[in-house]
Amino acid sequence: MEKRFEICSTDELPPGDRTIVELNGHSIGVFNVDGEYYALKNDCPHQRAPLCMGKVTGTTSATDPENVEWKDDGQILRCPWHGWEFDIATGESVFNPHKVRARSFDTAVESADGEPAEESAPDGGCDCGANLEGEQSPVDTYAVDVEDKQIVVYL
Ligand code: FES
Repeated sequence: MEKRFEICSTDELPPGDRTIVELNGHSIGVFNVDGEYYALKNDCPHQRAPLCMGKVTGTTSATDPENVEWKDDGQILRCPWHGWEFDIATGESVFNPHKVRARSFDTAVESADGEPAEESAPDGGCDCGANLEGEQSPVDTYAVDVEDKQIVVYL
């Protein structure tokens, strides 16, 4: 059965603000996005960063390189560690920068006699431990209600 937790009054969490609370042993971020309230687990599925401490921003989408648009301003949470982006409303991953790396090329430094002296990593040298394959699991979300000007989270 779900438990009910009173977080704060709506006056204490204006649009664009967040609060991070400990509920039932879980760290949870509660966000006000344009008057709608959302709760997310404060735990990035990539490498367990405190996701809810990240920047609230928007994201870009593009149909082609000439048509890039800024969208969902104030609804995207960017992880403070490696920049993965999540939709605050759904917990879905919307952007993983490791999947969109720039193309890289093999390079080598050669000595004057033409012998290879050293090589650089052809993959750009990313050693962040990111899983470059597959989809990311979404961040857990929780039901939020406003009852008598109190923000209430259920989990
Ligand atoms: S821990 Fe969140 S993007 Fe890496």
